[in-house]
This record gives sequence, structure tokens and C-alpha cells, in this order.
Amino acid sequence: MLHVNLIKAADPEEVGKLAADLFEALIRTKPACVIGLATGSTPLPLYRELIAREKAGKIDFTRVRSANLDEYKGLAPDHPQSYRRFMQENLFDHISIKPENTIVPDGLAEDVQAMCEAYERKIEAWGGVDLQLLGIGHDGHIGFNEPAGHFPGMTHEVELTAMTRDANKRFFASLDEVPTAAFTMGIGTVMAAKKIVMVVTGADKHDILMKSFFGPVTPEVPASILQFHPDVTVICDAAAWGE
Ligand code: PGA
Repeated sequence: MLHVNLIKAADPEEVGKLAADLFEALIRTKPACVIGLATGSTPLPLYRELIAREKAGKIDFTRVRSANLDEYKGLAPDHPQSYRRFMQENLFDHISIKPENTIVPDGLAEDVQAMCEAYERKIEAWGGVDLQLLGIGHDGHIGFNEPAGHFPGMTHEVELTAMTRDANKRFFASLDEVPTAAFTMGIGTVMAAKKIVMVVTGADKHDILMKSFFGPVTPEVPASILQFHPDVTVICDAAAWGE
């Protein structure tokens, strides 16, 4: 392992506050920064905290640009389970970020290659991601980059694994309704971010947290690549740390 900043918080609420401190510091020093955002349960306390801090006048999102990690293939932006809808409901609708300054891969893209390339170009045109937020899947996925024989480079289409579909079925009426494919930033896209913050909570994430940061770097554990990124902060709660 090169160097990973590991911060241990008491509980998910504190993880959210500590992660919010990083976003607040960035937005205060660079009001037109580019942030990379993630869906899932783990970022929710962070998003609540960011909303509260803007209401309290501590942060201003009016010039911030954001790019999300991923989206389900086949879901329209307004589908109740789409990641675009998740971001609107849990963050964007409650802060001053401009709609045109938020991007999420287009789940309905017909020309997948063109959509993925345009996504990369947009992030590049913005000057790259200053701070990328990540969660981690039980299999070590980041975004929807699942365990594989290689580290995928850029934004691309992926087949979802049975484990990931099963973990995400809690949001759908049944497993059959969980999409079988998604579009995700690649490992290369994620690694190009200037700074990365990963949030990890719950005892069920302990094993994969250890494997990712204290085990070998391998595409079988996609998050392990972060050991090679020069500026990663992992914020975990006591349960994920194993206490
Ligand atoms: P979770 O998802 O925060 O809902 O556990 C994390 C992930 O799959 O990346």
C-alpha cells in the first residue's frame, strides 16, 4: 500500500459529517469545482449534511459541477429507481446546484459508445473531477466496476453480477425488475480524479474494506486499485473497522 488516509468515525452520521468537511473545504476554496457523486445508502448522511450546510450558509453550490458514477441501463431519468432520480430526491432538489451542471450517464442511450465518450469529454471539458465520492460493494466494486480480469478504463457498459443485483433488489418490487446492465465510469475515470473520498459503514463491509486496502491490488477486488491513487481518504464507521 502506498498511502491511504484512513479515518475512523463512530457511526454513519459522523462518517457523513467528516466527508462533508472535505466537500465544504473544496467548495469554499474552489466555488466552481467538479465533484464526483455516488448513489447507495452509505452517502445519504453526507447528502443530508451537505443540504443542511448550504441552508446554514456554509456552502454554496451555485457554481459547482457534478458527475455521477453510474446509472442503470434501460431506466429513464424519472424512473423511481434510476440513479438520476435518486440524486434529485436526495441532493440536487434541495441545493442550489444548476440542473445543467449535473450529469448522470443516460440510462436510455441508444448509441452507448457515443454516450460514454461524451460523458468522458464533458468531465474533461470541466477540467476533471476535483473530489470523487465512492461507496464500496460487498464484492469490492466501485461505481459498477465489478470484479474482472482487468481494470476497465473509461465509462462503459457493464453486466451486473448476481451479487450486486441481489444487494440492490431491496429497492425494487422483485429481483426480476433489477436491470441486468448499467453504465459506469471506468476505473480509469475514477483514478483520474484529483482526490478521492470513500465512505464505508456497517459490519457487513468489514471484510471487503480489509481486502481492498490491506490486500493485494487486483482487478478481482476493483477497489484495491485505490492503493495506487496518491490522494485517497477512507472514512469508515466503527462497525466497518471491526469494532
Ligand atoms: P451501499 O452501496 O452504499 O448501498 O452499500 C455501495 C455500493 O454498492 O457501491
